[in-house]
Amino acid sequence: MYNLLKGKKGIIFGALDSKSIAWKVAEKAHEEGAIFTLTNTPAAMRFGEINELAEQCNNATVIPADATSIEDIENLITKSMEILGGKVDFILHSIGMSLNVRKGRPYDDLNYNYFQKTLDISALSFHKVIQVARKLDAINEWGSIVALSYVAAQRSLYGYNDMADAKAVLESIARSFGYIYGRDKKVRINTISQSPTRTTAGSGVKGIDGLIDFTDRMSPLGNADAAECADFCITMFSDLTRKITMQNIFHDGGFSNMGMSLRAMTQYNKSFDEGEFELNE
Ligand SMILES: NC(=O)c1ccc[n+]([C@@H]2O[C@H](COP(=O)([O-])OP(=O)(O)OC[C@H]3O[C@@H](n4cnc5c(N)ncnc54)[C@H](O)[C@@H]3O)[C@@H](O)[C@H]2O)c1
Repeated sequence: MYNLLKGKKGIIFGALDSKSIAWKVAEKAHEEGAIFTLTNTPAAMRFGEINELAEQCNNATVIPADATSIEDIENLITKSMEILGGKVDFILHSIGMSLNVRKGRPYDDLNYNYFQKTLDISALSFHKVIQVARKLDAINEWGSIVALSYVAAQRSLYGYNDMADAKAVLESIARSFGYIYGRDKKVRINTISQSPTRTTAGSGVKGIDGLIDFTDRMSPLGNADAAECADFCITMFSDLTRKITMQNIFHDGGFSNMGMSLRAMTQYNKSFDEGEFELNE
């Protein structure tokens, strides 16, 4: 514990259950001295687990909001300021969902209504949250907004589907709005590109077990888990990172800069040893 967020106030989107990245961020933010509100969709709240998290975090208030609804976001931010006693210092956007992924529609046979929903939920919601916060002047100077992304925004990864496009938009919004909000109010906006992680959203990704094994073998430091991601989010909310904005920062054990590693190659070569392929093929 470093008291990195002592006296800071925030809003945390996306804690569904104890595996959620946002759940771990809330736990650490509480440990580090922050007070905050928690939010998720009314549907997600019916599972009820978020109330356990709220209790753990000094009885944090839980406010339902669909992050695609401007009205819900306005209500959330206004109420959060009332409850927390003023402007906030940090916002975590930890939201992602693709109906194409859920319903097994591959990238070359997308349902476009689903695609628009993917973009709205997983990317445009980030813009909406930032735009509403700015209009309500809800964030203190040097405040920090973070959203979670994935390397599929830059590279093709089998099975990530239309979420790759959503993440590309998400990262672009951090740059475009980061300029405006930084210039006007010294508020910073970044995305953290996280290793594949076993959560409800993560488990939706096709072949997640193989992917987690592969990226772990490829990364010199191994995959980053949800708790490590939360540590990094806390750092990004703290005053120690005041001049970082408009960035997409990889929190992935080095995976994004690798081409091939010994550990991955060794495993891959086993398929040849088993006689499935000839090495020169
Ligand atoms: N798990 C991974 O492998 C991984 C890797 C990189 C990035 N991420 C990103 O991390 C973020 C958090 O995901 P997670 O892995 O913790 O999974 P998760 O399933 O625990 O969290 C996703 C959250 O999005 C919320 N959500 C969905 N639709 C919403 C809406 N309309 N309004 C508000 N909230 C909504 C869900 O209720 C849920 O709480 C996502 O952006 C995800 O893409 C995950």
